[in-house]
Amino acid sequence: MTLPLDDRQRAMLAEMGVRLFDGQGAAPPAALPRPATAEPAASARPSRPAGMTATPPAARPAEAPPTIADCPAGVDTMAWDALEQAVAGCQACGLCRGRRNTVFGVGDRQARWMLVGEAPGEHEDLRGEPFVGAAGQLLDHMLRAVGCDREHGVYIANVIKCRPPGNRNPEPAEVAQCEPFLRRQIALVQPRLILAMGRFAVQSLLGSQEPIGRLRGRVHDHAGIPVVVTYHPAYLLRNLPDKAKAWADLCLALDQVPLAD
Ligand code: URA
Repeated sequence: MTLPLDDRQRAMLAEMGVRLFDGQGAAPPAALPRPATAEPAASARPSRPAGMTATPPAARPAEAPPTIADCPAGVDTMAWDALEQAVAGCQACGLCRGRRNTVFGVGDRQARWMLVGEAPGEHEDLRGEPFVGAAGQLLDHMLRAVGCDREHGVYIANVIKCRPPGNRNPEPAEVAQCEPFLRRQIALVQPRLILAMGRFAVQSLLGSQEPIGRLRGRVHDHAGIPVVVTYHPAYLLRNLPDKAKAWADLCLALDQVPLAD
């Protein structure tokens, strides 16, 4: 099937790294890796960049099992500053022992779209900002492809605000402990659409254990807000052909809620 694409759409796809197979100079996908059928969350996490060493604060073993304490009280009524401070000081689970920085969120606090990822990786932990590693660079390309960037039109946050040691998957108890922060961010932003990127975002927002492949392509609901499910950018880096599906997911999101009038 040939998609009728105009020059602008072609430019958008090029921005995302989606290659077209229409005889206009793009290579066929034969040399690309086979896409996995399900999104493998563990390996979808960004790995530590070469030359960077993780030095967790002394005398606090990062690999100790998580201990769960109470989430700071009153999160559900906090304003932005209080919420950011509560996250920065949170010691509700063991992830606080290994973090360099908490990773709160970034972007337009009145955004139409909210993008939800999983948890900070090495780069994010160092910078205190979500999606600044390789997956973040792809996400930036995806945002440019739909005409916005991380400061305009979207707000980006993770389910988990502290880096799990070694980029392991977050434990269910850690997710449960951190979720009130994301819930409050959503309540404050009041996005008109949420893009759930990857399986931990899906689990948290939709309460679903279904694989991404079964959930994408239709609109879900979180507390009355339309949710579009898509692959995590780190997964897309390893499964290049699925970028075309991510592009379709962005188009579905744009159909539901345009980023500009
Ligand atoms: N992966 C995520 O889910 N979030 C980040 O901030 C970085 C990588």
